[in-house]
Amino acid sequence: MSQNIILSQVFEKINDYLKKDTLIDYKAPFELHDAINFSIAEKGVGEHEFLELIDKYLDYSVNTNHPQFLNQLYSGFNFPAFIGEIFTALANTSMYTYEVAPVATLIETEMIQLMNSYTGYKNGDGIFVSGGSNANLVAMFSARNQIAPESRHKGYDKNLKLRAFVNEHAHYSFANAANIIGIGTESLIKIKTDENGRMIPKELEQKIIASKKRGETPFFVGVTCATTLFGAYDPIDEIAEICQKYNVWLHADGSFGGSIILSSQHRYLLKGIEKTNSFAWNPHKLMNIPLICSALLVKTKGTLHHNIADVDADYLFHDLNLVEDLGKKSIQCGRRVDAVKLWFAWKYFGTAGYEKRIDNLMHLAELAEKIVIKRTKLELLTPRQSFTVCFRYLPEVDTDINHFNLLLREELRKTGKTLVNYGYINNILTLRLVITNGEMSPKDIALFFDNLLETALILEKNYSIEPIEKR
Ligand SMILES: Cc1ncc(COP(=O)(O)O)c(C=O)c1O
Repeated sequence: MSQNIILSQVFEKINDYLKKDTLIDYKAPFELHDAINFSIAEKGVGEHEFLELIDKYLDYSVNTNHPQFLNQLYSGFNFPAFIGEIFTALANTSMYTYEVAPVATLIETEMIQLMNSYTGYKNGDGIFVSGGSNANLVAMFSARNQIAPESRHKGYDKNLKLRAFVNEHAHYSFANAANIIGIGTESLIKIKTDENGRMIPKELEQKIIASKKRGETPFFVGVTCATTLFGAYDPIDEIAEICQKYNVWLHADGSFGGSIILSSQHRYLLKGIEKTNSFAWNPHKLMNIPLICSALLVKTKGTLHHNIADVDADYLFHDLNLVEDLGKKSIQCGRRVDAVKLWFAWKYFGTAGYEKRIDNLMHLAELAEKIVIKRTKLELLTPRQSFTVCFRYLPEVDTDINHFNLLLREELRKTGKTLVNYGYINNILTLRLVITNGEMSPKDIALFFDNLLETALILEKNYSIEPIEKR
């Protein structure tokens, strides 16, 4: 197999893929098994088959670059970041030492400093991690070891009865984190929210007081900056006061909505962010960097080193250079180079360009909300705060509205028109339109609603309350 010939054909395929207008060529798992030979044989494949496999992979993958991919909190194609990703793989290395990753080490350091210039952590630090869930885990772990440093060596003393507090709609990674750090999921206390899905500070304070009265130790509050389903921003400023009063670590989960910090117009939603102890920021969501690109920022230098990775590994860290080896602050040993694609993108768009992209997302979400309010057959289910519009279709046929909306969503998915996700608000199924692709325009929003309304009308005509077919 000639590497040169293959490379030129691969670049052609990349070009073709980027022009492709298909969102998804839906195949059930058994159909995919028919279309692709997944097994590995003793003898390797030849050039022709190798190239064919690339085609098949691309043909049947979901085209998340497509402007009708509205299903997840990441989406879109980011050209400079894509280039960054390719060259990162080409100069394959691991982020632990300056010795093997000199340029990438300085780039990651620069990115952390830049991100901290937005958070207002004047003596801050941070590390790129393998996703927002892991950022939340490392933050909670760090908070545990701050309040109970002996846990690092002796393990967690259950008599401390550590308790963590989060928005009732917080991401499930907090429950996983509570499990992993040894306090258990029952030690994660969910705090009630208001009609906008924001944590109610008074409720939090009452729960902290009650916890202390039971002889427990509140040690961690996780606020969310754009909740997964509603896009709600917790009131950080008020909650920070409570955390200071009770000496509790305050973490802000900006995995979804943290990038709003780039917008001077909308940054007010993070008011008080500089008072938090840590902040999870995922450029792979609203900044459209290819997965994974995620950072955990901390307010105080030394925190990560002391609380989570106090390692002694002289076979790796030789301290021969004038800069810090970043691996000393990470729970990982081998670590992907995720800062470089972000750096390429930020260089390309500039800070002003990125601000515009975030403002555009918010503008499009506003537009989508207006359309929902205007159309009598659509019902807005929660007030919109940011990039998410939660709504449903009101069918004229007499039926279970949840079932109808689920069917509608499945029809849109399987016909490949639009991919939009859903969740439940008190047993009411809500379609969650989420605007995260910085390249989108008002035309794409209009097309989304055209697709949805057109498909709903057809469904109404042929409607029957059959169970949704699983394929
Ligand atoms: C609020 C929130 N926190 C955390 C996460 C997890 O982030 P990741 O998918 O990068 O692990 C998500 C993912 O959607 C999220 O919405």
